[in-house]
Amino acid sequence: MFNVSDIRKQFPILKRKINGKNLIYFDNAATTQKPRVMIDALVEYYENYNANIHRGVHTLSQEATEKYENVRNTIKNFLHVSEEYEIIFTKNDTESINIVAYGCIELITEESNIVLTDLEHHSNIVPWQILRKYRKFETRYAKFTNEGYIDIDDLVDKVDQNTKIVSISYVSNTFGSINDVETIIRKIRQKNPDAIIIVDGAQACGHFDVNITQINTDFFTFSAHKCLGPTGVGILIGKKTLLQEMTPLMGGGDMIKTVTRENTTYADIPYKFEAGTPNIADVIAFDASIKFIQSIGVENIKVYEEELTKYMLEKLLDINFLTLYGSKSHKKRLPIFSFNIEGVHSHDVGTILDDFGIAIRTGHNCTQIIMNELKVNSVARASLCFYNTMEEIDIFINALKEIKKIFR
Ligand code: ALA
Repeated sequence: MFNVSDIRKQFPILKRKINGKNLIYFDNAATTQKPRVMIDALVEYYENYNANIHRGVHTLSQEATEKYENVRNTIKNFLHVSEEYEIIFTKNDTESINIVAYGCIELITEESNIVLTDLEHHSNIVPWQILRKYRKFETRYAKFTNEGYIDIDDLVDKVDQNTKIVSISYVSNTFGSINDVETIIRKIRQKNPDAIIIVDGAQACGHFDVNITQINTDFFTFSAHKCLGPTGVGILIGKKTLLQEMTPLMGGGDMIKTVTRENTTYADIPYKFEAGTPNIADVIAFDASIKFIQSIGVENIKVYEEELTKYMLEKLLDINFLTLYGSKSHKKRLPIFSFNIEGVHSHDVGTILDDFGIAIRTGHNCTQIIMNELKVNSVARASLCFYNTMEEIDIFINALKEIKKIFR
C-alpha cells in the first residue's frame, strides 16, 4: 500500500525547517531528494570497502568492483533493458548526450541533417551545436503543441533520408508533458530506418514504467540525481552495435586494451566510455535508490503523482491572476507546473515562496527556446514528487495568493 507519511519518513531532509516553516520541496525536476537507504549506501562504501575498481586483486577492490558492476544489472531490470543494449556510467545526463554527439561525428556529411525539437532543454541542444565546429550540417527543430507535447507530425515531416540523428525528450522539464516516444520512434523508423534516435529521459525515470526495449530507441540518457540518486552519476544506455563503432569522447585509464607511444586500442564496451576512476561511491549508492523506488512500485508512484497533478491543476486553474503553461489535463503528464503570476516577476515569486519554506525553480529552466516561444523571459516552476502531499499543495496555493496581495 502506498502510504505517503511512511514514505516521507525515509527522506531525512523533509524534516527540515526553512525560515521557521516546514520545508515544502517543489523543485524535484531540478533534483529530487534522497532516501535514507541511498545516503547509508554512500557512507557504507566509504566506511567499509572504499577502493578503486577493476584494478586490484585485493578484497576491497573486488568488493567495490562487484557492487559497481551489479548496478548495471539493477538498471537493466528497472528500465527493461534487453541484451541488445549496454549501460555506461557518466557524470550526468548532459555528459551522456555529449558522448553520443561526439561519437556520431563520423556519420555526418554536408548533406546531413539532425532533428531536435523546440521542447529540449539545453543539454539536448548545445552538444549538437558544438558539432558544427567539426562538420557542416543542417539542424531542424520540430515544434511543440499548445499543450507542451512534441508535435509528432511536424517532427516526422522534418525527418528525411538525410537525417542522421533525431534527439528528443521523453518528458518536458518545463511542461511535465510525457511524449509518446514509442509512437514517435516507430514513425521515424518508417520514414528513415537508418536515423539514430536518442531519447533524453532526464525527467522520466522513477515516475512511471520506462521500457527501453519497447520504446526501441538507439540511445537513452538520464541522470541519477533526478531519480532519488546522488549527483555526479549519469547513465547512457545504447545499442551495443552502435557503441562498438563510436569513438569515445574521453581517453585515459581503464578504457584501454593496449597503449604504445604511437597508439591505443580501446577496451570493450562499456569500459571504452568510462575513462579514469569513475564515481564509484555514487554509482553504488544509486543502486539503493532504484531498489527503494522498486519497493514502492513505479505503478503506485504513477497513480499517486497523477492524483497530485489533478489536485494541483484544479487549484492552479482556479486562480485568475495566474498563467499556467502547457497541458491542463492530469493525464500523460507529470506534476511539473510552469506558470507566471500577473505583475510579479518569477524571481520574486520564488523568493517570497522561500519565506514560506517552499522551494521552487524560477528562470528559464534551461529551456530558452521554450521561453522564446511562450514570449516570456522566465517562469516559476513547481515540480512535485511522490513524497509531496495535498496539504503541501494547499499551503503553496495560499502562499501564491499572499504573493499577489503583496504586489497588489
Ligand atoms: N534540467 C534541470 C531542471 O530542469 C536542471 O531544473
